[in-house]
Amino acid sequence: MQASLPGSGVPLDFLGDLRRTHTCGQLRAEDAGKRALLMGWVHRRRDLGGVIFFHLRDREGITQIVIRDGDALRAKADLVRSEYVIAVEGLVELRSPETVNPNLATGRVDVIAEKIWILNESRTPPFPMEESVDVSEEMRLKYRYVDLRRPRMQRNVILRSKIAFAARQYLDTRGFLEIETPFMTRSTPEGARDYLVPSRVQPGSFYALPQSPQIFKQLLMVGGYEKYFQIVRCFRDEDLRADRQPEFTQIDLEMSFPREEDIFDVIEPLVQQICEVAGIGVSVPFERLTYAQAMRQYGIDKPDRRIPPMEQVNDLFEGSGLFAHELPLMLIRIPKVGALSRKERDDLKAFGQERGLRVFDDMKRLERDFSEQIAKAKERAGAAEDDLVLLATWAGEPTGHRPEETVYQACGQLRLHAAQKYAEKHGQFNAGRYEFLWVTDFPMFEWDGEDQRWVAAHHPFTSVHDQDLEKLESDPARCRARSYDLVLNGVELGSGSIRIHRRDVQSKVFAALGFSDEEARRRFGFLLDALEYGAPPHGGIALGLDRLVMILAGESSIRDVIPFPKTAKGTDLMCEAPAPVPERQLRELGIALRKQ
Ligand code: AMO
Repeated sequence: MQASLPGSGVPLDFLGDLRRTHTCGQLRAEDAGKRALLMGWVHRRRDLGGVIFFHLRDREGITQIVIRDGDALRAKADLVRSEYVIAVEGLVELRSPETVNPNLATGRVDVIAEKIWILNESRTPPFPMEESVDVSEEMRLKYRYVDLRRPRMQRNVILRSKIAFAARQYLDTRGFLEIETPFMTRSTPEGARDYLVPSRVQPGSFYALPQSPQIFKQLLMVGGYEKYFQIVRCFRDEDLRADRQPEFTQIDLEMSFPREEDIFDVIEPLVQQICEVAGIGVSVPFERLTYAQAMRQYGIDKPDRRIPPMEQVNDLFEGSGLFAHELPLMLIRIPKVGALSRKERDDLKAFGQERGLRVFDDMKRLERDFSEQIAKAKERAGAAEDDLVLLATWAGEPTGHRPEETVYQACGQLRLHAAQKYAEKHGQFNAGRYEFLWVTDFPMFEWDGEDQRWVAAHHPFTSVHDQDLEKLESDPARCRARSYDLVLNGVELGSGSIRIHRRDVQSKVFAALGFSDEEARRRFGFLLDALEYGAPPHGGIALGLDRLVMILAGESSIRDVIPFPKTAKGTDLMCEAPAPVPERQLRELGIALRKQ
């Protein structure tokens, strides 16, 4: 047969009736003496004059092929280059002890080739098929189909598949039904912009791609399905970061008649089993903190518990003259940092100042003036000699609707900055530590400074605590939601809530969010109607599958666990999406583009 690439002259063979007998990861010493027919990609080729060696690679592993003799066979082997797709038939032979390769599962045998078929050729790949490659991410994304062949990407994609399968299996045993919900729908608000899909048959009207299946899963509870799950794609037009993609996948579920505990009781073993797939043991139940506790101790709603919490020490310094206001005075401790240079301390101070903090970085001086208090504060925090200890408080007037929180937050940022900058070298962020945590009872509302209004901290379908119902109008800042986040090592893995199932409460929450009756009806009329037809109490959660796989695979970007991800600008570099469309297609959709 002719060559596939122009001008290469390499004659190709047909697959015909050829069938693999083994994968490239399968052969062991016991197989010596058997015949084998393998297929795969030529990973590496070594020509030692008398003998040619191929490493033949497929999804399952690598097997060494030896071409010893036969002119025709050698001539064929001479044509073969890296990443050619070939089939090889031959005899499995035990290697001599000194040539055993302990790094390969198949390293005790060779296949002595008797016949080779070249099924396809390959251009020289843009980068080698190694574990780590020194090449830009743009290049990897442009040639993603090549990148996906690298062992590391294969491991990640396979792990992802196994995790999704384990989740399905587990949820099935717990009585959850996998039910699909539409992609072409109305806006489901989760705090991002919608991707819109224009309708051809109804010009001027648009579907929105779902930011999550939130409303539909609630409607499934109204529909009587009681336990729903879906491993589902969500679409959000928002600023992208290392742990965000415009389309991503959730393990999404919803239950009827649950309390928070029931949701935790489903999720903890689920996560445990998923971790097991990745070879990681975790114990349940997970730690729990309320949002208020998390803020007070870590200054953030997704604490990284691999670094110790902060301590509030106002009581110890009362009347000491160290500071003059009622706002929190926080002690930050980062273990095993050792002495910092003047420059390093200045950096921490400047970082704090930029966030409104007054940072007491010079412990020696403080210890001179406040020796007793500092000794007590250090004791409270369990500080050892070589720990970095900082005190920080607010520099100016209180700000924000929850001023103490503003201080905790700024201190929390300083804590993370100090830890990331100075504790990394001591392995405090070591792979191998998995600190799961539930954060509960988030505030119901957050103040949107730009729009000057309250917005839902989770989403507008979240229940408020019974005791806080009355504060919906009078004190929205202090209303607590029945919501919870699952956090792992400082990353928000999942988020959920007990929902509003009563029509009157949902209206009140819409009102608190500043939706007029008319707007609420226009946007969510179908949900409001559904709540009038026997909606059961219900609640649920969604875990970010990409983030979960990212952490369990030990990667730092979700792009490395998504087969075909987009860049920070939302571009697919391989197929060059998004792309302009022909004028005719726009006309059909009733769309005219304005000149930018
Ligand atoms: P939420 O918006 O918090 O909740 O999303 C749930 C989880 O999905 C993941 N996630 C993302 N992952 C990658 N890229 C993104 N752009 C992205 N956005 C979110 C996170 C997050 O914790 N409907 C609710 C869930 C519920 O209430 O049941 C929801 O979508 O890991």
